[in-house]
Amino acid sequence: MSRRSPTLPYDPPALESLVVRPLMRQVSRNHSASPLDRLEGVSLHDVASRFGTPVYVVSERRLREAHRSLRDAVARRYPEVVLAWSYKTHYLSAICSVFRSEGSWAEVVSGFEYGIAEDLGVPGKETIFNGPHKTDAELERAFTRGSIVNLDSFGELDRVIRLSRRMGRKLDAGIRLNMNLNYPPWDKFGFNVESGQAADACRRAFDSGRVRVNGLHAHLGTYVNDPGLYARGMDRMAQFAAEVESRHAATIEYLDIGGGLASTNTLHSQFLKGEAANPTFDQYAEAICTPLTRRLPFLKSRPRLFLEAGRCLVDEAASLLTRVVSVKQLSNGMKAAIVDGGVHLLPTSYWYKHDIQVLKESRFGLEEVHLLGCLCMQIDVIRTAVPLPPLTEGDLLVVRNVGAYNYSQSMTFIYPRPAWLLVSGNRVEVIREGETPEYVRALDRIPPHLLTRETRKSFVARRKERRGA
Ligand SMILES: Cc1ncc(COP(=O)(O)O)c(C=O)c1O
Repeated sequence: MSRRSPTLPYDPPALESLVVRPLMRQVSRNHSASPLDRLEGVSLHDVASRFGTPVYVVSERRLREAHRSLRDAVARRYPEVVLAWSYKTHYLSAICSVFRSEGSWAEVVSGFEYGIAEDLGVPGKETIFNGPHKTDAELERAFTRGSIVNLDSFGELDRVIRLSRRMGRKLDAGIRLNMNLNYPPWDKFGFNVESGQAADACRRAFDSGRVRVNGLHAHLGTYVNDPGLYARGMDRMAQFAAEVESRHAATIEYLDIGGGLASTNTLHSQFLKGEAANPTFDQYAEAICTPLTRRLPFLKSRPRLFLEAGRCLVDEAASLLTRVVSVKQLSNGMKAAIVDGGVHLLPTSYWYKHDIQVLKESRFGLEEVHLLGCLCMQIDVIRTAVPLPPLTEGDLLVVRNVGAYNYSQSMTFIYPRPAWLLVSGNRVEVIREGETPEYVRALDRIPPHLLTRETRKSFVARRKERRGA
């Protein structure tokens, strides 16, 4: 007798959305207090009560350690290395001063940034002037002060040729290269090597009898977490240097491989944490120095090697302290916490899953929460579904690794921008005061035809008062 299984009725497959349990979606059971409640010798609770939130805090020690460890990693392999601090990554005077005191040169990409370096007393000879928009006056100032100027386009080269005639002397300049190394190509800047454009630029410079190309520059991308890109870029750059030297009886005195080394932050697209996935300074150094050393026999001298690292030196040193101002449930059942910071202070949250910590002891497990900023904008999202202990109003959060670009690209938007503090051992110093409404509006003007009795009594009167004060 055969044993036949009973026929079951056919159930068509169905798709159903998962219901997220409101407010207490447990993702772990064993969470205790978050570890970062002190920075150096300073309690972050004390910092928050003394200076208010939001507020940025930077560790001087971490800035110095990062600078030293990158420089040492490269210098062990190629001693003629100089780090040039990328001002655009963070141009607060105190930050630039820390790196300067570690021996960094200044790398600037506009007349404005050039002025900051000058104001901080960086000698012209230790300033590298890059960027696609340099005015004639800025170029003249830079050449007069002996700065390294890397030319970005044929138009700029022609202007420098004319400038050299006006200045009555020949000028040394570098050219910026771009190479077919990555996709999409990073080709907005400089002269392309493979198409012959870069060779044409050198020819035009030397043929003018006014401009000698004495250096090469490339910036291969940003957050480059593949050291191989540096290896390929440096190899091609050094090969091109040898060609320029032999074709034009020139000497290439420096090779500048730009910045772009990844910090330990994690991209939204990354599965592994940046800390685990991204290369070490030694790996970057090896990638850069191996092809350079291999190509040395073909070069006339040992060129100076510049590295314009930005984000990898400053990201880990800074955090944003911010407080929960309200907790709510969204229409999909998710818990959301609104904090007194926002994406205007953390533009890098569009790129990174910033590490977030809560400064409180918690007996509870973690739950996923959307961390939203205080801007009156739906897009103001700092992190989605981040596992944290249950948050309540008033909780203090630390958004970590926010040092790069979150000052220079932050916005005064809806709120004035907050203070930056430098923690050095047990000391806390204000390195940028929080903006005041008066500061933000000081440059506003009302044309006479728009003045009314109201504005005369308030806007105009207050300004007069302040000027008199
Ligand atoms: C020419 C140049 N050098 C250096 C940097 C610093 O890059 P990062 O902060 O990614 O290291 C940049 C940034 O875009 C740059 O444009």
